[in-house]
Amino acid sequence: MTKIRAAITGVGGYVPDYVLTNQELETMVETSDEWITTRTGIKERRILKGDNQGVSVLGINAVKEMIEKTKIDPREIDLLIFATVTADMTFPATANIVATAVGAVNAFSYDISAACSGFLFALTTGASFIESGMYKKVVVVGGDKMSAIMDYTDRTTCIIFGDGAGCVLLEPTTENVGIMDSILKSDGAGESYLHMKAGGSRKPASHETVNARQHYVYQEGAAVYKFAVTNMAEVSAQIAERNNLNSEDIAWLVPHQANKRIIDATANRIGITEDKILMNIDRYGNTTAGTIPLLLWDYEKKLKKGDNLLLAAFGGGFTWGAVYVKWAYNTN
Ligand SMILES: CC(C)(COP(=O)(O)OP(=O)(O)OC[C@H]1O[C@@H](n2cnc3c(N)ncnc32)[C@H](O)[C@@H]1OP(=O)(O)O)[C@@H](O)C(=O)NCCC(=O)NCCS
Repeated sequence: MTKIRAAITGVGGYVPDYVLTNQELETMVETSDEWITTRTGIKERRILKGDNQGVSVLGINAVKEMIEKTKIDPREIDLLIFATVTADMTFPATANIVATAVGAVNAFSYDISAACSGFLFALTTGASFIESGMYKKVVVVGGDKMSAIMDYTDRTTCIIFGDGAGCVLLEPTTENVGIMDSILKSDGAGESYLHMKAGGSRKPASHETVNARQHYVYQEGAAVYKFAVTNMAEVSAQIAERNNLNSEDIAWLVPHQANKRIIDATANRIGITEDKILMNIDRYGNTTAGTIPLLLWDYEKKLKKGDNLLLAAFGGGFTWGAVYVKWAYNTN
């Protein structure tokens, strides 16, 4: 029997208009453009401004663009998965809000929470539904409104993160393209290094939690950095090895955009040169679950049918993983 694979057959993306530059951050916290650029590679990030504007706004715009480009009928979408840690509300799922807003009236939908690895977790989950033959059109969205959980008095975190979302459409194919392999990992021991202290069921919001500034990202940067460098590189090497991919076989490394130094370490480990790394960290910073689909969106025209892509991520949890994708189409 011919194997059914899940092919990425379209991408969409959206970043809000407001540009928060390193220069503007210099006026908000004790930092400098030079420090941010050399330590992270980030020059600017996008911020979603305005009242009542949740991450769903980013997701809706991204999915609408994908629907327009691929010309699919949204009523044919079977499932929509949204990877995010900045859901509009604790419940209902942001995926439901997005699905209804884009006209995916026949889809069921749910969120996945795996921080910066969220898109890879959701992509693998969505692909499994296609490979099983259960569904024909699955939309996988990754996005975050990190500005909603940023402490703009904390220079160690607020310089890193930004807002944005991207998405892909998955459809079945019997060609030798699509999601080829995936390695996903998590380790709850990472909790202490990267988390939000309050607002969940363990410590609900109260005057005390607000006064103690506990509704923001808490990060021990150096510890996260060490773990990220080792694990993102290791899992990338593992997936390359088990698929017999050497550095020449890989057309593009598509790495989570957290820190340019972490990306360079991953590329070095698998022998990928700078010209084969997709990057947009300089323009968007770390959009958490948004970085990888935003890269596919930004660079869609460069991707050719048959190209081997190695997607790699690391994030809070800890969570990390790598997905091997054979690109399924050419864009004119
Ligand atoms: C956060 C991060 C950029 C900090 O870079 P670093 O090189 O590790 O810097 P350190 O935290 O060791 O701090 C070095 C110095 O810079 C200072 N510093 C921190 N942020 C600063 C900023 N924005 N501007 C200027 N100085 C800053 C620190 O206070 C420290 O000063 P000290 O030596 O006087 O104590 C880096 O640790 C990192 O990228 N970590 C991983 C984060 C990540 O990937 N998170 C997302 C997970 S998906």
